Amino acid sequence: MLLPVFLSFAKTVTYNYNVTWVWATGPDGFGRSVIGINGKWPCPTMEATVGDTVVVNLYNHLGNQTTGLHFHGINQVWSPEMDGSTGSTQCPIPPNSSLTYKFVVDGPGTFWYHSHDMGQYPDGLRGPFIVHDPHDPFKKDYDDEYILTISDCIVAVQNMLTPSNVHFAPPIPNGILVNEGLGSHIPFAKGKTYRVRIINFAAFASAMIHFDSHTMQVIANDADYIKKQEALQLRLAPSQRYDVLISATDQDNDNFPFLASLDINRDWTNYSSPLQWPFNYTGYLVMDSSKALDKLDIVDKWQPVDESHLQPYDGAKAFDHYDKLIKLDVHFCLDKNGIPRSCINNITYINQRVPTLYSVATTGKDNTNPIVYGQINPFIVDYDDIVQIVVNNKDDASHPFHLHGHHFQTLHRPASGTGDWPGRDVNYAAQPPMRDTVAIMANSYAVLRFKADNPGVWLFHCHIEWHVEMGLTATIIEAPDRLRHRKFPKDHIAACEKLGIPYKGNAAGNVNDPTDTTGFVTVPPTTYVGAAYVAS
Ligand SMILES: *[C@@H]1O[C@H](CO)[C@@H](O)[C@H](O)[C@H]1NC(C)=O
Ligand SMILES: *[C@@H]1O[C@H](CO)[C@@H](O)[C@H](O)[C@H]1NC(C)=O
Ligand SMILES: *[C@@H]1O[C@H](CO)[C@@H](O)[C@H](O)[C@H]1NC(C)=O
Ligand SMILES: *[C@@H]1O[C@H](CO)[C@@H](O)[C@H](O)[C@H]1NC(C)=O
Ligand SMILES: *[C@@H]1O[C@H](CO)[C@@H](O)[C@H](O)[C@H]1NC(C)=O
Ligand SMILES: *[C@@H]1O[C@H](CO)[C@@H](O)[C@H](O)[C@H]1NC(C)=O
Repeated sequence: MLLPVFLSFAKTVTYNYNVTWVWATGPDGFGRSVIGINGKWPCPTMEATVGDTVVVNLYNHLGNQTTGLHFHGINQVWSPEMDGSTGSTQCPIPPNSSLTYKFVVDGPGTFWYHSHDMGQYPDGLRGPFIVHDPHDPFKKDYDDEYILTISDCIVAVQNMLTPSNVHFAPPIPNGILVNEGLGSHIPFAKGKTYRVRIINFAAFASAMIHFDSHTMQVIANDADYIKKQEALQLRLAPSQRYDVLISATDQDNDNFPFLASLDINRDWTNYSSPLQWPFNYTGYLVMDSSKALDKLDIVDKWQPVDESHLQPYDGAKAFDHYDKLIKLDVHFCLDKNGIPRSCINNITYINQRVPTLYSVATTGKDNTNPIVYGQINPFIVDYDDIVQIVVNNKDDASHPFHLHGHHFQTLHRPASGTGDWPGRDVNYAAQPPMRDTVAIMANSYAVLRFKADNPGVWLFHCHIEWHVEMGLTATIIEAPDRLRHRKFPKDHIAACEKLGIPYKGNAAGNVNDPTDTTGFVTVPPTTYVGAAYVAS
């Protein structure tokens, strides 16, 4: 019998990834070891269709470092152990070991994957992850699609966590990488429209983008469709994505440059000190390759679309109340050794001995008590709670916050200098944009809401990778009562065993009395060795 062609069947997509060191030479001729996959760098693009099961067999061939993979923006519905956050949802994968990730892709869009192990993705382990949509509402609006990744290129991180770093200075990038150094020339034919999936892979910098003589029609922010929004310029904080449509008109008869510029300013809206734009890349929409590619795209003043004013495609309204408030004051701080850290409510996140999800599954009725989890900024929420997260950013710089396990609504994200949340509802968007990362302005705040319908352990953190290393992370422990006795795959547990890491009991591995805090890690480690492997 012939099946109707419109039926699409969920399939299993399998990737065998061997994580290896690769020698890479940048556009400037400078070479370094980077972390690649199957002996190659840039890392490959993962692709699947909504509803598919994705299997990644990951083998760690690095020899001297642990690793892991996080699938950024994938909610991991009922597969919280597949989130790839080492120290939180699994143990790191030791050298010469493999581990399998298996999960269903629950939504379409532009995602990416990257290591979530000790500041490792700036060393190269990152790639695009595209989930195709058989019911794409914009399908008829474009003819072809391209991926455009933007990143910063960083040489050394070692000097950040030293007491002499009194200004909490992050490592500053050495350059910009577009499509990991391969660059981007997008074929551009008369009368055609292109979907460009823009991803910021950076560790530190945000990315500004502008197409000369052509406006963008933005159709998605992160992996969420929005009502078509015209944009002259966009700003992508680290880990954010935009899908845009660009059309060539019948009058177009040339090659058009586009400018990607790294924003390394503390606050690009604050002109109290001169802004700097040291790292630019010019790519081209190429209509006629026999013509020169030499026109430059000059931007006098960056005025990107305000991300908090975008509207969801489906018109979904803001949750009209919240059951649980999580208020997070963000600022920099010093730890007991005088080493610069970042703090949430005066507490810096420190990885504990037992990955948090394993503590949730093995501490019985105590698993609703935050004391069990140690210094990971734990917040317990109940199943089906509407959770409101308020971030008060006490810093003079903007910070992009990312939530695992959910895309959230941004009800309010006022301008720099607004100060703290006043403690009550104000001017909230009626139809707020949904996404998984929001850039919170300097000395200002953001109000986010989501529904706690996905039991798991979900990190909420600044996606400036250096700030993750400095402890700018909170942990949402969602519906722990539904995760009691959850079982984990044998290969995940084997990674812990090989590294001598306990996988039962509270943060310190105390099994008999989960409220016994003996052995909790309360001072961050004093040496910073990236993801260096230390045999136990
Ligand atoms: C991983 O790659 C290395 C280097 O190319 C190779 O020697 C090794 O056999 C590979 N291992 C697996 C499991 O594919
Ligand atoms: C990994 O396996 C290789 C080849 O068997 C061996 O030479 C190396 O010592 C092992 N490395 C670690 C860290 O176990
Ligand atoms: C980068 O581009 C911006 C905007 O056009 C410009 O202001 C800046 O001078 C450029 N930077 C360099 C190093 O050319
Ligand atoms: C953080 O510490 C400062 C100074 O000690 C204090 O004023 C503030 O109330 C504390 N904030 C919280 C949320 O505990
Ligand atoms: C602009 O930056 C200066 C210091 O660089 C700071 O004092 C001021 O508060 C900032 N303004 C806003 C609106 O955040
Ligand atoms: C691990 O090996 C790679 C490739 O040889 C090297 O570049 C890197 O510095 C090493 N890392 C550590 C922490 O030893």
